[in-house]
Amino acid sequence: MVQAVPFFSMQAANQGLDVQASVARVVARDRYLLGEETRAFEQAFGAYCGVAHCVTVANGTDALELALRALDVGPGDTVMLTANAGYYGSIALQLVGARACYVDIDPRTMTLDPQALAHALKRCKPKAVIVTHLYGQLADIETLCALAARDGVAVIEDCAQSHGAAQGGRRAGSFGRIGCFSFYPTKNLGALGDAGAVVCSDAALAKRLTALRQYGWGRKYHNDVAGGRNSRIDEFQAAVLNDKLGHLDACNAQRREAADRYHAAFAGLPLQAPAVSRQDYVAHLYVVRSAQRNKLQSFLATRGVQAEVHYPIPDHRQATAAGHLLEGESLPHTQAACDSVLSLPCYPGLPRPHQQAVVAAVLDFFRR
Ligand SMILES: Cc1ncc(COP(=O)(O)O)c(C=O)c1O
Repeated sequence: MVQAVPFFSMQAANQGLDVQASVARVVARDRYLLGEETRAFEQAFGAYCGVAHCVTVANGTDALELALRALDVGPGDTVMLTANAGYYGSIALQLVGARACYVDIDPRTMTLDPQALAHALKRCKPKAVIVTHLYGQLADIETLCALAARDGVAVIEDCAQSHGAAQGGRRAGSFGRIGCFSFYPTKNLGALGDAGAVVCSDAALAKRLTALRQYGWGRKYHNDVAGGRNSRIDEFQAAVLNDKLGHLDACNAQRREAADRYHAAFAGLPLQAPAVSRQDYVAHLYVVRSAQRNKLQSFLATRGVQAEVHYPIPDHRQATAAGHLLEGESLPHTQAACDSVLSLPCYPGLPRPHQQAVVAAVLDFFRR
């Protein structure tokens, strides 16, 4: 019988966690929104990221949208971003009425290419740049921030896949003006439902974000900030996140260990493996690239191994796309990535026999 190797298991990832206790704590306190758990998590997660402020919101897409609103990005503004990061940034831009301008990726890391950004900034002045730390891999964030700063352009980091990834002692979310996080269950720090956060070190920005996530209220029933809406996490999610935050580094280490095992096992195969396995890679996804991606995915399925494609369609080719490329640009590296990427199961608690089954199936595919 073929062993089923699911892409992700929340139960395995949450092993040892007493979720019932987190829930009971909230019920006992009888406060469900913006209470003690939320406040404690905001303080702890801000400190973890190395920033002064953390404002929790309902999900990662809201985090991006509210970050744009906080920076006054709206109709008539352009924002640069990559087109291989799942369309979340593009949705946020559509929500605020701004225009996306897509820039190509570095084919090695599949994150925003500093050279491509430098070239694009010579031709167009955006209001902001969204840098996505894709697959758990920090982009070349210091170079990108320096380029943006030279032109007075704000950097928003999309850290939904990179909780805890670090470079030079600084963590994802602490480099740009604002960092945006999702705590969707599969993320490196995952809730038991939707949740998100925005982090920054600018008190005025944090104040605006706090108003924007709750109807635009400066004070209760005082609608002071335009563009506000309801985007809160509940106390249950905050309680779970509080209990999980202390395990984040250990969970990231487990993800990296699985990635290292794959890396060693696949050496010599005609596959492109993730570029790094140091502190700047928290192995949110273990993404290989293969010219035979679709065949490999189908073969793995016959062996019970669920592999996924993150992401098959570049943003500018989506049916609802509204952004643009600079004239004469074609994003060849972005398209090539979308055509060749394949994510293998990689999460904390991934059973060792499942890791061995993944390795055996990949090796068999290339041996045939
Ligand atoms: C890179 C990236 N940005 C943003 C999001 C959006 O987060 P959410 O699903 O919480 O809205 C995700 C999550 O799926 C993501 O992977």
